[in-house]
Amino acid sequence: RTARFTVDPDFTVGPVDPRLFGSFVEHLGRCVYTGIHEPGHPTADEDGLRTDVLELVRELGVTAIRYPGGNFVSGYRWEDGTGPVGERPRRLDVAWRTTETNRFGLGEFIAFLRKVGPQAEPMMALNLGTRGIPEAMDLVEYANHPGGTELSDRRIAHGAKDPYGIRLWCLGNEMDGTWQTGQKTAEEYGRLAAQTARALRQIDPGLELVACGSSARGLPTFAAWEATVLAETYEVVDHVSLHAYYEEVDGDRDSFLASAVDMEAFIKEVVATCDHVGARLKSPKKLTLSFDEWNVWYQRRPNPHPVADWQEAPRLLEDVYTVTDAVVFGTLLITLLRHADRVAVACLAQLVNVIAPIMTEPGGPAWRQTTFFPFAQASRYGRGTVLDVRVDSPAYPTERYGDVPLLHATAVRGEDGGVTVFAVNRGRNAPLDLAVALRGLDLGRVVEHSVLADSDPEARNTLDEPERVVPHAGEGATLVDGTLRAVLEPMSWNVIRLL
Ligand code: AHR
Repeated sequence: RTARFTVDPDFTVGPVDPRLFGSFVEHLGRCVYTGIHEPGHPTADEDGLRTDVLELVRELGVTAIRYPGGNFVSGYRWEDGTGPVGERPRRLDVAWRTTETNRFGLGEFIAFLRKVGPQAEPMMALNLGTRGIPEAMDLVEYANHPGGTELSDRRIAHGAKDPYGIRLWCLGNEMDGTWQTGQKTAEEYGRLAAQTARALRQIDPGLELVACGSSARGLPTFAAWEATVLAETYEVVDHVSLHAYYEEVDGDRDSFLASAVDMEAFIKEVVATCDHVGARLKSPKKLTLSFDEWNVWYQRRPNPHPVADWQEAPRLLEDVYTVTDAVVFGTLLITLLRHADRVAVACLAQLVNVIAPIMTEPGGPAWRQTTFFPFAQASRYGRGTVLDVRVDSPAYPTERYGDVPLLHATAVRGEDGGVTVFAVNRGRNAPLDLAVALRGLDLGRVVEHSVLADSDPEARNTLDEPERVVPHAGEGATLVDGTLRAVLEPMSWNVIRLL
């Protein structure tokens, strides 16, 4: 049972765009309120931001942060979240049947990003569900124009002298979804997205724009939606979006552990569709992908928290992740890295409390979920160039995907010449021997082998036991005569750093 692969710096996938380690803050449940923003919390700063959460967000290493939704954005009026807080309207958020107080808005979000640090970049979603071109143009002018117009002067009057300089914009959210406020057909959306993109580029040709792809690979409209939308938008957008969430269904853990097979197929199919449209248009341009919602999400489970309609900041989507979930999560990260040549942006949905790596208690502590660790390690050590890894691995049978390799892996070469191997053993019961031949690389030692695994596959971190699951050091990894050898524990996420 040895899984092996060879790496050689002459064979690469491509450079990693830092925005592959993005995340997502939606006005949903307690992501914003009592998540990142809680005036009166013992750790809150002058802006009402929880500094305990800010510290964890920095440690997580997130880059592009998508805001303000999600389904929320399709009924949102961006102006509601600007100006004096006391004068902002309370509104129905029909997407999540919540009352939105608008105490947090664009200015507060930008203040949050600045406190996260220079690596954090806004990725703004525009409402193309219940609104259209003029409101999108207004928002770009309010946010980005230096001054001397009504909208830009309004931003200055609201306390932001310097423009926000937001480059990355999503042209709506999941516009194919029946649940989306203002859902559109592909023809309707394609036309609207293209016209909006042209109008925004008239303000600033340098904006980076994302067209909505399908909300899920399993939707009947998948691929036809992309083909139709891109036929309209190809030359005026930069990226097309993908969204995917995975969960264990009917106790079929082996298939769940193979979820990355679906993610990989999804990426390849969207790339093929983009390139097909490009070929039909005889365009030299290549689109890249924005995988701007991905995660494990137990959508089929009922909410364990009692929630009434139109509550403020209710407990919604507060999934508590097991070590098993973290291992699957790790395979999704590996898959994104393996496609770094075409995936330019990816957003872990979401950042705090809502299907999130960080949890908080109102008035209480903040802690790391199991999924926090693979993300933080990938963001920290997955920078540089992805090497072309072709795995030769024993396989195991799954109901949903047939035989699937036990090993899922990638390797990233950093600027210091070091190589980090990210590897998952999907096997639930047995360790897996790993052998990696390192060709043309001057590497001398194993700096670290970090493992996330547990004898209890249901182990998780909670308010009462916030550090039940943390990475531990692996034993016995060696680098001899240009070959790395390690043993991967059953159902484990592994980070092996070589220098
Ligand atoms: O991330 C949760 C929700 O999932 C988002 O609001 C929506 O875009 C997707 O369906």
